[in-house]
Amino acid sequence: MTTETDTKPAYSPGLAGVIAGETEICWVDPNAGLMYRGYDIHEMAEKANFEEVAYLLLNGELPTTKQLEEFSKALAAERPLPKEVLEMMRLMPKNTHPMDMLRTGVSMLGPFDPQLNDHSHDANIRKAIRLIAKTTTLIADGFRIQHGQNPLPERPDLTMAGNLFYKLSGEVPPTWKIRMMDTIFILYADHEFNASTFAARVTAATLADIYAAVTSACGTLKGPLHGGANEEAMAMLDEIKTADRAEDWMMNALAKKAKIMGFGHRVYKSGDSRVPIMREIGRDLGQRVGKDQWIPICEKLEATMDREKHLCANVDLYAAPVFAMLNFDPALNTPIFAASRVAGWCAHVVEQQDHNRLIRPRSLYTGPASRPYKAAAASNGS
Ligand SMILES: CC(C)(COP(=O)(O)OP(=O)(O)OC[C@H]1O[C@@H](n2cnc3c(N)ncnc32)[C@H](O)[C@@H]1OP(=O)(O)O)[C@@H](O)C(=O)NCCC(=O)NCCS
Repeated sequence: MTTETDTKPAYSPGLAGVIAGETEICWVDPNAGLMYRGYDIHEMAEKANFEEVAYLLLNGELPTTKQLEEFSKALAAERPLPKEVLEMMRLMPKNTHPMDMLRTGVSMLGPFDPQLNDHSHDANIRKAIRLIAKTTTLIADGFRIQHGQNPLPERPDLTMAGNLFYKLSGEVPPTWKIRMMDTIFILYADHEFNASTFAARVTAATLADIYAAVTSACGTLKGPLHGGANEEAMAMLDEIKTADRAEDWMMNALAKKAKIMGFGHRVYKSGDSRVPIMREIGRDLGQRVGKDQWIPICEKLEATMDREKHLCANVDLYAAPVFAMLNFDPALNTPIFAASRVAGWCAHVVEQQDHNRLIRPRSLYTGPASRPYKAAAASNGS
């Protein structure tokens, strides 16, 4: 019998191409496709709302009308935060990044959950509902507190998409805006073993609780190679300003070997499944709000990158101007991604703990060969 120590495990830098687990939740087709539990993302984005998709991700099937009503009500009822968490957000430095505020808030919510250490399927679903509901509140209340404003009371009559706008601005948005936000939330809701979801699953696989897992995920999402790209992409577009400057800007950046935010993907090589929908939202919004300069810049960048490096745009390139046109502060771009992805993270934690095995890979040792220890006292002769 060969043991693990006899064989040399295959090594793939960055775990590229490695199958690290099984999932029934989501399938990313490298040829620009994406399915949630077997349903095509394009159809879901057009017809479903976020609550429906969150239910599907968590429970495996689409809800009936009654189930959706109950689930949406439960989510709306779970939105308010413990007053201690609001107090903690008031104590954080005013320049705290909203992703750091969110990560800290998720972590602090754990001990307030009476089922924190119950990892049964039912308890995990209950906790997931609380976490999905409270994530948006952490983002909106945290942002208002940072800007010297009081958090607004919840509006349980609004869906998560409508409530997010209301909680940030105090205004109920028009129906078209809520529909648009639902589509954006659906596009971001899950993406199989992306870095933050994998971080959540690694944490959950130790049988740590769902709040610990989502705290890991928030920390991982912040980085600009992952969720943080949608904030960085806006800074890039702000710098470029007009479409006629985009090609020169890109050539210059590539000559400097810079990483261009909103381009490239570990899995998609012939296009990101979410880009066409997000691009279309961007065009529509540009006309509605009279800011039609952003999408042509993105398109010029896309054409130049395709010609120079055959790299495709990812969803964050187009999400950046979409969020700007919806009047979100760019620092909220990644937290809004999290407000949606928390549904996917929770679904993966539930799945991981329902069929758990510790996730513990090996490393390839490249350090010094075995050598004798010399005590500091002996080596300096004293
Ligand atoms: C997403 C990302 C981390 C994937 O990394 P990866 O799978 O290791 O990248 P690849 O192996 O496909 O890279 C192939 C080549 O393209 C280059 N490349 C990839 N993305 C690039 C980008 N955004 N800008 C410039 N060059 C890029 C790599 O440097 C590499 O070049 P090399 O062969 O000369 O070393 C990477 O594309 C990236 O950093 N993108 C920008 C951040 C971003 O938008 N993140 C959001 C992802 S949804």
